[in-house]
This record gives sequence, structure tokens and C-alpha cells, in this order.
Amino acid sequence: MRTETPQPIRLSDYRPPAYLVDEIHLDFDLQPSATRVKARLSLRRNGDHAEPLVLNGERLTSISVAIDGRRLAEGDYAIDAEYLTIAEVPAAFILETEVEIDPAANTSLDGLYMSGGRFCTQCEAEGFRKITWFPDRPDVLARYTVRMTADKAFQRLLSNGNLMESGQTPDGRHYAVWNDPFPKPCYLFALVAGELDVLEDSLVTMSGRKVDLRIYVDPGMSERAVYAMDALKRSMKWDEEAFGREYDLDLFMIVAVRDFNFGAMENKGLNIFNSSLLLADQATATDFDYERIESVVAHEYFHNWTGDRITCRDWFQLCLKEGLTVFRDQSFSADMRGAAVQRIKDVKALRARQFSEDQGPLAHPVRPSSYLKIDNFYTATIYEKGSEIIGMLKTLIGAEAFRKGMDLYFDRWDGHATTVEAFIECFAEALGQDLTTFFDWYEQAGTPRVDIRRTYDDAAKTLKLELTQTTPPTPGQLSKKPLPIPVRLGLLDGEGRTLAFERDGQAVDETVVVLDAAKANLTLTGVDREPVLSALRGFSAPVVLTTDAAPKDRYVQLAADPDLFNRWEAGQDLARDLMLARSAGTPDEVGEERYAEAVGRALSDQAADPAFKALLLSLPSEAELALAQQPADPAAIHLARNALRGRLAVHLAEELGRLHTGLQDLGEFSPDAAGAGRRALRNMALDILAVDPHAENAERAYGHYEAAGNMTDAMGGLSALMQIGGEPFEKALADFYERWKSEPLVIDKWFALQARAPDEGALGRVLGLTAHPAFDPKNPNRLRALVGTFAAGNPARFHDESGAGYRFLADQILSVDGYNPMTAARLLEPLGGWRRYRPDLGGLMRAELERIVSHEGLSKNVYELASRALAQD
Ligand code: TRP
Ligand code: ZN
Repeated sequence: MRTETPQPIRLSDYRPPAYLVDEIHLDFDLQPSATRVKARLSLRRNGDHAEPLVLNGERLTSISVAIDGRRLAEGDYAIDAEYLTIAEVPAAFILETEVEIDPAANTSLDGLYMSGGRFCTQCEAEGFRKITWFPDRPDVLARYTVRMTADKAFQRLLSNGNLMESGQTPDGRHYAVWNDPFPKPCYLFALVAGELDVLEDSLVTMSGRKVDLRIYVDPGMSERAVYAMDALKRSMKWDEEAFGREYDLDLFMIVAVRDFNFGAMENKGLNIFNSSLLLADQATATDFDYERIESVVAHEYFHNWTGDRITCRDWFQLCLKEGLTVFRDQSFSADMRGAAVQRIKDVKALRARQFSEDQGPLAHPVRPSSYLKIDNFYTATIYEKGSEIIGMLKTLIGAEAFRKGMDLYFDRWDGHATTVEAFIECFAEALGQDLTTFFDWYEQAGTPRVDIRRTYDDAAKTLKLELTQTTPPTPGQLSKKPLPIPVRLGLLDGEGRTLAFERDGQAVDETVVVLDAAKANLTLTGVDREPVLSALRGFSAPVVLTTDAAPKDRYVQLAADPDLFNRWEAGQDLARDLMLARSAGTPDEVGEERYAEAVGRALSDQAADPAFKALLLSLPSEAELALAQQPADPAAIHLARNALRGRLAVHLAEELGRLHTGLQDLGEFSPDAAGAGRRALRNMALDILAVDPHAENAERAYGHYEAAGNMTDAMGGLSALMQIGGEPFEKALADFYERWKSEPLVIDKWFALQARAPDEGALGRVLGLTAHPAFDPKNPNRLRALVGTFAAGNPARFHDESGAGYRFLADQILSVDGYNPMTAARLLEPLGGWRRYRPDLGGLMRAELERIVSHEGLSKNVYELASRALAQD
């Protein structure tokens, strides 16, 4: 049992820092098990009163503390598990400290640690305190000079900014000195030392400055950084064109590391990436990997302005940099790969991750008001819903005012740490309009339900729309306000053609209705005939929409809605209803046939993009269906979903077979959107055919795997074979392992694939794999590939009636918590939604959560999430 309940940090308790740091000189003597860190800080009082100096520091062995050159005696200061406190200090002074740390023993991958024999750092959010004494909060911005000395085996010595000096030391080691001219919070500090190959390039910025670009990777891997380099250059150009933002240093570096808790980190001038989000070639990376690399490289680069030059005042403002930067990377991807397809993928991800979070006990506002561990708030809500809010803002105020507001924000806040209020104020000023009610989107948790009812008056040629909104209660927020919800909509005639109408006397094809009260009525005029309503086009707000549309309207939309998002959405709605009906024991066989036929027609549309067709064929996920069913029954959902896929396999056998044969890549491989789209459609066709495992389909799957010339096709073949099961699958699986056993990123895929096995034996297989020699739970990529994928990506097997899946996950969480709390906590989410499941399952899930919270020595990270998941309110 925990002995004391940890105390939350609250937004309302924010106080400006008592002392500011103008400059910091760091001197690292790098030794894997005993690194010495000397720090010299120029501090000055920030306010009128003399206050004690309190610096953060954890797991530091203090060697010395001195003020203005005078070493302090032990009684002049106090050190506990979290702080160094000096009761009396001058108004301005130099503080010098020396500590010893043990990077080799740092398994939390937070602070300074070793990965693959190299030193590297991760300081966001609160890792810098594991390196030296410092006010570890984002509103203390300092200029950094970093000197490091290491054995020459640590070939590259890197830190933020510009290299000032480097050379040999008399004792045969070497050193480097870096200076970063831009003041920054300590969470953006980075250091890397080790043997690395480099891929070099350069770019001339909009003002004609040449910037050197370097990507550092494992020896022998620089070819695999070529795609990331290309993505980096495109990102840099795009930010100049779309936001007028130019890069500011003469050097931009990225380092790829294998052991990393998250995806990547935007340290000033020295981004550090999880190697899974950087390295790619056609043999080892899938198209999905390429896509993610492109967007994460862009994301971290875009942080240079939205995050680094302008940072957060405190961690409650996390969405200020993350939501905005996700919005920027999604806009970039839309420009690179096609707006409709990108939007559909973003919404699928939002629904799968954010909607479930928002409808469970871990729901929180995009700007939360309290936390125990900020690491737990790097959530889909802060990132993805944070981005949706920016998108709505742009829809509401228009592209021009949006750009004006962004310019004002960059202008006003450059070089500062600020708040979400200050950000929104820039748009209010640009627009000359109050945006207070819009701000509620940041403070209110939960996914609004929007409903639209129609009344058509044939005589008057009017369409009356009744819109309502409600937001269900979330923990700690029982009553909800109406939010300003932009609903983009248009009308179609019975053939799916655009039907023009008038709004406020103006003839239009499309309009944005802002629903900002619980209820609103709106009458559109000049509506020539009874229309099909195409509402919430482009998913103009992160809400759950219901309407009174009949299935026939959805078929019209699926065939022809000019808004491609809604064309896709109509198919999703139809499929969702059919699967929910079947899993409730009331299958609509006729409806299923009709649906399969309509999908067949959509597939034969020559004008449509293959990537879009692949998305049409991709049914709502089991996780998404579980959200729509009360209580959720994962086994029934799995069967219902497979039944509908089986219906497509049989009904569209010929069409799918033709697609699969016809789309084979003959020319040279290209990871671009067009090539990826063709492969996606071909693999999706195979995936569906594999539900109907007769000999011809089994042979097709095996042939696909055998002939694969790239990782996308190899995984597509393997995954189809897995659905069919049996000897051919086991053979391919063994063959794949032999072929790729020396490639960690590929072996991650091998583990993840098996974690998704649909058969009864899946949990047994996963348990067996935890004893595989290649399973290394200390590596987050490997751990998530197996454990995370099983719990979050295989609902039917995770929710086994025996509770064995839950027990497995809880055991893993408790074991990982012993050495890496941040990553352990991120595994907990699948247990969080226990109240939404069939009561017998929910009870078993709850029991595991209770076992977790009562575990001796549990970290704050896991404690916070497990106790919130159990809380009654
Ligand atoms: N700021 C990073 C990003 O979104 C996220 C991140 C990387 C992170 N590593 C982390 C957050 C460690 C918390 C802890 O780009
Ligand atoms: Zn980010």
C-alpha cells in the first residue's frame, strides 16, 4: 500500500518563479556509471521579496554547492529527495554546483541515460532535474553553454545550438563546447555522445541563409535517413510558405535512438527521435512508417516556433505547443498527401484514441487544471483534440484572420513562455471580436453529441434544421455548457448532385452553421426539392453526430457526396449500424448485402483515388464499435465485424481479386502517396479476401507474401496468412524471423503482428513471446509492440472472459513500473474504460486496477491513472 496520497499540482496555484536564470554553463565529464556535472547559473531575484532559493533535483549525488565562489558548508543548505533549498541568497549571484549521476543505471529513459552504448537525454517534461540542480519549470528561460568531455569511443559530442570549440584533452579524451544563443527552458536541453554515422545536407532559407542539416544514426544506417532528410527539407520550406516561419540557427540536427519513451523530442536545434520514427527503406519500413516519419519529422521541426521560440508558461499549457503543432503537422501532411485522405486518417485516429479517452474515467479538458505527474498528460486529448480546436478556430474565423492571429502571436510572444489565453487573445484582436465562449473548448472535457432534425416544406421550398447539443458529464465536471460548434453543411439531390440553396438570402453550395446554444433552429430557403443533408463536412468539429437521415440518404452520400470525408463517413455509418445490429443479435442480412453492393460500386469508380478506396473498405475498428455499444461486448463485436468483412469477401470476391491482381507494383518502388495508396488498396483487398479462407484465397495470400518486394507487402501478406492460420502462417512467420532477426525495427513488427492474432490461442502466444530471447521489456518499442498491441489492438482476445488478458496486462504494468514508470503508465489505458464493458468483464478489469493501486512501491505515474480509473464521482 502507498503510505501517503500524493498531492496534486494545480493550475490555480501558479506563481511566477522566485528566481530567474539568465545563463547556465554546464560541464559534463561523461562516464557511463559516474558522470560528473558541474553547473554555473547566473541567478537573479524575480520580485521584491527575498525568498529561499529552491531548485529541483532527483537522484543527484551532491558533490559541492557554492555561491559567488564561496563553497557552502553542509548546514548552509538542505537537500531532500526532490529539492535543494538555500534559505538565504543575494538578489543576484552565481551558483555553482557539482553532482554525480549514473546514466548506465537510468532505466527510466528520462534525464541522461544510455541507449545502445551512447549517452542521450530526454528532459521533457521534468527530466532535467535528474541531471543537475535547476528550477525545472518551463517559464525559466536561460542561455546555455555546454561543455562535455568523454572517451574518444564516444565519437560524436552533440548539444543544442552552435559548436564553439572541440579538441583533445591532455589525458587522451576529447571535448566539445556548444552554445545556444536562444534562451530556452531546460526541458529543451539535449546532449548526445557516442558513435554515430551522419547524413548531411543543407538548405537555403527564405532570407537566403544556408542551414546545415545533419541526421545522426547507428553506424551503417545513413541510407535509411534519406527519407527523413527529404521530409525535413519539405517541412522547412512548408513552414516558410504556410506560416512565414524561417529556421533560425545555422545548424539543425536530428539523432535517432533505439530506447525512447515517446516518438520524438523537439530539443532546440537537436531533435531526438525514436529510431522507429526516423529510419526507413523499402525493405524494412511500411508505407505507414513512411507516413509517420514524414509527419513526426515535420511535427518536431515545427516545434521550433511553436514550442521552442514560444514556449509554455507551465505544464497546464501543454496544448499551447502540442495541439497547435499537431494542427500544423496535419496541415502539412494534407498538403503533401491529399486533404481528404489525410483528414479521414486523422479522424479515425481521433475516434480510436481520443473519443474513448473522453468517454472514460481518464477524460480531461484539453487544458487540465490539476495533475500528479505531467508525463500522464501527453494524451490524445491534449494532442489530437488540441489540434481539432485550432482547426475549429480557423473554420470559425476564416483563413485570413487565422493567419493574422498567428502572425500576431509569433510577433508578440517570441522569446517568451505564455498561456493558451494569450494565444486566443491574439485571434480575438486580429478579428476584433470576443472569443471567450470559444475558450470553453479548452476547459470542458467530454465529446459533445450533436443531433440534427430536418423538416422540408415543398410548397415554401424551405428546409428547417433543428440542431441540439449535449455533452455527457465527465469526472469532476458534472454539468456542461453548450460550446460553439461549427457545422459545415451542404445539400444533395437524390442523385447525389450538389443542390444549391440560400442562407440569409445568399445563394450558396455550402455553409458553416455555428451551433452555440443547447438548441438552434435554422431555415434554409430556395431548396428546390427534398434534399439529402451532408452535415459536419470534413468533420468540422470533434463531436458525435446523429441525424434523422434514412439509410437511403447514406447510400446517396456513399455514392456521390462531393465532400469526400462525408462520402467515406456515410459508408462508416452504414457499416457501424449493421455491425451493431448483428452484435446485438439482430442481424440485418438484406442491409448487409445492400451495403456490400454499394461498396462494390464505389470501388469501381475510376475517378476515385486508390488510397480513398482503401479507406472505404476499412470498417470502423472494434474499439470504435465498443464505444457505440452499451455495455460493450468485445467478443460479439469481433464476430459481427468479421461477419460483415466476410460478406464483403464473398460478395465482392471477383472485384477484390481483380484489384489484388491488377494493382501489383511492377515499376520501381516509391514511398509517395500514389504508390502507398495503390499498395494500401491491394493489401486491403487481400485482407478482406482472407476472411474467406478457401484454397484460392490462401494461395493468393501466400503468393503475396512470397513475392513481396517491400515491407508493406510483406506485412500485408503475413497478416492475411495470420487470419487464415495453420501451417502456411507458421512457416511464413518463422521465415520472416530468420530473415529479419538482426533488424530490431522489423522484429518489433513481428511481435506486434502476433499480438494481433485473432485466434483463441492469441494470449498463449503472447505469453510465450514474453519468454522469447528477443523480447526485451526494457526497450519501450519492443514492450509496446507485444504488450501494448495486445491490450489495445486485440480487443476480442484481451477481453477474454476468464480475465487472463487483464491479469497479463496488470502483471506487465507492475513489472515495468519497477524501472520505467512513464512507459508503465502508458500501458494502463485499456483497463481505464472498465465501466463501459459487460458487467462481468468490467468487474474483472476493476479487480486488476485495484490490485495495481494497492501495489507496494507503485510510482506516482501509475498510481494517478489507476486511481482515477477507479474513482467514483
Ligand atoms: N514534446 C514531444 C512531442 O510531442 C513529446 C515527448 C517526447 C515527450 N518525449 C517525451 C513528452 C517524454 C514527455 C516525456 O513532440
Ligand atoms: Zn509535440
